[in-house]
Amino acid sequence: MNHERTIGVIGGGQLARMMQAAAIGLGLRLRLLAEGADVSAARAVPDTVVGDYTDPATVGGFAAGCAAVTFDHEHVPTPILHELEAAGVAVRPGPAALVHAQDKAVMRARLAALRVPCPAWRVVDSPADLVAFADAIGWPVIAKTSRGGYDGKGVWKIVDAAGAAEPFAALAGPLGPTERPPTDADAHVPRPVIVAEEYVPFVRELSALVVRGADGAVVAYPVSETVQRDGICHETTTPAPGLDAERERAIVALATRIAGELGVVGVLAVELMERPDGGVVVNELAMRPHNTGHWTIDGARTSQFENHLRAVAGLPLGPTDLRAPVVVMSNVLGGTRTDLVGALDRLFTAFPDARVQLYGKDVKPGRKVGHVTVYGDDLAVVQARARAASDFLEGRPGALSDTLDETR
Ligand SMILES: Nc1ncnc2c1ncn2[C@@H]1O[C@H](COP(=O)(O)OP(=O)(O)OP(=O)(O)O)[C@@H](O)[C@H]1O
Ligand SMILES: [Mg+2]
Repeated sequence: MNHERTIGVIGGGQLARMMQAAAIGLGLRLRLLAEGADVSAARAVPDTVVGDYTDPATVGGFAAGCAAVTFDHEHVPTPILHELEAAGVAVRPGPAALVHAQDKAVMRARLAALRVPCPAWRVVDSPADLVAFADAIGWPVIAKTSRGGYDGKGVWKIVDAAGAAEPFAALAGPLGPTERPPTDADAHVPRPVIVAEEYVPFVRELSALVVRGADGAVVAYPVSETVQRDGICHETTTPAPGLDAERERAIVALATRIAGELGVVGVLAVELMERPDGGVVVNELAMRPHNTGHWTIDGARTSQFENHLRAVAGLPLGPTDLRAPVVVMSNVLGGTRTDLVGALDRLFTAFPDARVQLYGKDVKPGRKVGHVTVYGDDLAVVQARARAASDFLEGRPGALSDTLDETR
């Protein structure tokens, strides 16, 4: 076995699954640390270890023999990552960078020090303190847990004093994707706190995706417009419509600077909110392939998954150009249709140009179970086709032409 080519991936979601497709082409061998034997990536990666990513011995055993370790999610406790590094495993991105994607209070403080535009914010320690922040900055405000949130869980819009208790009540309960008993590593992980932020009346959300190699070289994808509902990404359009070249360059330069300052290796996604005056502020950072970059599988010359793995494996990064003038990605969120594979015949008959990724997950309401990408010349056409194709996979009536029988 050639250990030098084994890359460990912690977390068995769809991001790890899509990394596997890229790994095959690069001749890299993935080893997966998964939450269960039947999670999305475990169904695609033969070398899967089922275990708890918060248990130091489990993670240490998993990583032994891996040339590098990377992530499907950002929830691995920092002390475990330090232990891996001490054992000689390359952790990419490393713990010092990753903490900015793990902890929104740390992220805000660092970005403020780097003079990166952010919403007004501060850590608040009680409902009364949150109310005081809102009185000073103006209602409504946003409250977030500093750690453990995902897909909008752990984000609250606070409209009045009566709502200020809820985020603090949630701190007492379990957060994050896995509810589990505490382990030794938890003792070294800071407790989540509540970060209060100015409510940004954004006109749209944008995402800047860059990839930084182990040697410091950075490549950047065109900036995407993203549509989030209830904290979940529904759709991306690339390039972001109406974003002029000068603002695009400024956003890419900002994301590139953040990647360098934080020492990221791999994908850095910078989620942005665009203000009515055209200015942008950073919402948050992710240091792994990101939902707003799924369009790159079909719409860019190198996918974010391949470029992430190239960075992690120490290879030069690939070109990020678009394959067509417009690329739209539409998430498939679990709906009434449960057999997605069984729907492909009709889907591809109606939409031969639809590019589909299915995550091998059981369909549950609202769950991310796949995505569709369409690219072409005309924004309205491409957007309509991507939406109709994902609507069809979600089981929405009328998504295909009326002449087709939806019940089949
Ligand atoms: N300060 C703000 N003002 C207005 N809206 C905000 C603000 N912060 C966040 N939001 C909205 O809430 C969404 C979720 O926020 P955020 O990205 O911080 O949460 P998350 O749960 O960590 O999401 P993710 O799934 O991206 O990890 C944002 O995409 C945006 O739509
Ligand atoms: Mg987010």
